[in-house]
Amino acid sequence: MSKEFTSNLELQRWVQETAALCQPDRIHWCDGSQAEYDALCDQMVQSGTFTRLNPVKRPNSFLARSDISDVARVEDRTFICSRSKADAGPTNNWHEPKSMKTKLQGLFSGSMRGRTMYVIPFCMGPIGSPISHIGVELSDSPYVVVNMRIMTRMGKAVLEALGDNDFVHCLHSVGAPLEAGQKDGTWACNVDKYIVHFPEERSIWSFGSGYGGNALLGKKCFALRIASVLAREQNWLAEHMLILGVKDPNGEKTFVAAAFPSACGKTNFAMLIPPKPFTDDGWEISTVGDDIAWIKPDTTGQLRAINPEAGFFGVAPGTNYESNPNAMKSILENTIFTNVALTDDGDVWWEGMTPTPPTHLIDWTGQDWTPDCGRKAAHPNSRFTAPISQCPVIDPAYNDPAGVPISAFIFGGRRSSVVPLVYQSFNWTYGVYAAATMGSETTAAAIGATGAVRRDPFAMLPFCGYHMGDYFNHWVQLGRELPNPPRIFNVNWFRKDEHGKFLWQGFGENMRVLKWIVERARGHATSVESVLGWVPRFEDMDWRGLEISKTQFEQLISVDREAWQQEIASHDELFVKLYDRLPKEFIFIRELMLSALWRSPEKSELAHE
Ligand code: OXD
Ligand code: MN
Repeated sequence: MSKEFTSNLELQRWVQETAALCQPDRIHWCDGSQAEYDALCDQMVQSGTFTRLNPVKRPNSFLARSDISDVARVEDRTFICSRSKADAGPTNNWHEPKSMKTKLQGLFSGSMRGRTMYVIPFCMGPIGSPISHIGVELSDSPYVVVNMRIMTRMGKAVLEALGDNDFVHCLHSVGAPLEAGQKDGTWACNVDKYIVHFPEERSIWSFGSGYGGNALLGKKCFALRIASVLAREQNWLAEHMLILGVKDPNGEKTFVAAAFPSACGKTNFAMLIPPKPFTDDGWEISTVGDDIAWIKPDTTGQLRAINPEAGFFGVAPGTNYESNPNAMKSILENTIFTNVALTDDGDVWWEGMTPTPPTHLIDWTGQDWTPDCGRKAAHPNSRFTAPISQCPVIDPAYNDPAGVPISAFIFGGRRSSVVPLVYQSFNWTYGVYAAATMGSETTAAAIGATGAVRRDPFAMLPFCGYHMGDYFNHWVQLGRELPNPPRIFNVNWFRKDEHGKFLWQGFGENMRVLKWIVERARGHATSVESVLGWVPRFEDMDWRGLEISKTQFEQLISVDREAWQQEIASHDELFVKLYDRLPKEFIFIRELMLSALWRSPEKSELAHE
């Protein structure tokens, strides 16, 4: 029966084997067409999973409300089942693969009864790109099918491109079989959840959740956890990074990739709108991706990047026409909203969308909501799923199979003190050290101006499919082999003064920092040496249209000797865990930084050359 859809024998075998295990009532091979998408959306409107939004206000768009227990990625239920525990490393949940497989087989046995099993062939990256990879997800969730159609290149064309080649096996079940005659709920899921990766086998088994990264297996599970393992073996990089292009007034374009932990405004940075003097001059920012980058050296040793995804799965709360007009315009139509609030005229709303909330809403749990009711209208992790092609500043090369050349990497966290606005690492290995030690303060931290710092190396802690120490070594080694590796920068938009007030406006103003970065990467902009790396002087930055004094800038860029001695000491908390696989280079860099700090002036003055 599978033969009419694919000649791939392994795919035929696996579909049959999975159907025998999960016992779905029907099997549907997804062709990825608009007609198929529309029919599934209609079916979900009928079943109550989807509410069709007002076609005048939000054409061809839908709202889904999940179960209240199924609203986010479940890191404590996420497992890396490599053969050896040591290969998963101390920062991942490891489980012995054989017994995990037995456990999963038990859970999946009969798990699709009464449902349809969808065969979802998908390509991460442009079809035909040497950087792309193909996966097939078998899922019993129509919500997953329609989201995967937006988030990936999905359907018939992928099966054709796959031919008889290998693919990543992604198995997903909401874990809620329907017994004869049983009526389905509007959001099926199971209290027991397992998000399991078998890196050696290149397979993913996800049970019990229908939400986001737990269920759309192309995203975090494949494009980061499994792909990071492939990337290490095959000498490339699978990263939790946005990709953007910066075009100067002469039309020269430079691409950068940037990693930030969540809640640091990654999507806003990916679609940044430069301040007026810059746009008047002709500076332009374009978006290639907002979450994940796959980066490979080409035959000349130039790193080239693709966005493996085809859509945005963005956090809704806080998004508005001030903070991110390009995101707002990307979601005007053809968008799936999950767990936001419904307005009385059939549109959507979330906290921060407008300064004043509507007087009445249906909240994300389906209850009546008024501004004084004391509850949030949208879940804090509510999302929009929208085609990236709808982004007004999409880069024309986003679909280019060759990818875009990367000239700089940017790493940033949320730090109210210690870390300067921007610095450029002295060399590749210093840059890897800086990225490995980046951290972010938890925003809700109630410990005064400085919250607890959570180390999140490369913003990859929850997403690396193997030992983090091996990951650092891979980065060190890969850069060593490149003739002209991208320059590495660290940024911090969140530094505060002694009264707890932000020293930097962020958002569009970040363009000033980005311009300096791009010019440094091109070998133009001037700088001065600090103990951490190269930093701009006041006169090295373009301040047109912004009131800022030299003193304010120096506060932003200053390096406090004592604070940095403590900061470096605190790197040990992570390093101790990874000690046996840590790059030896890190030990020397740490020593060099400590001795440079020892010799540097007490506060802030930079060693002018
Ligand atoms: C995401 C995340 O959803 O990083 O992109 O958590
Ligand atoms: Mn992410």
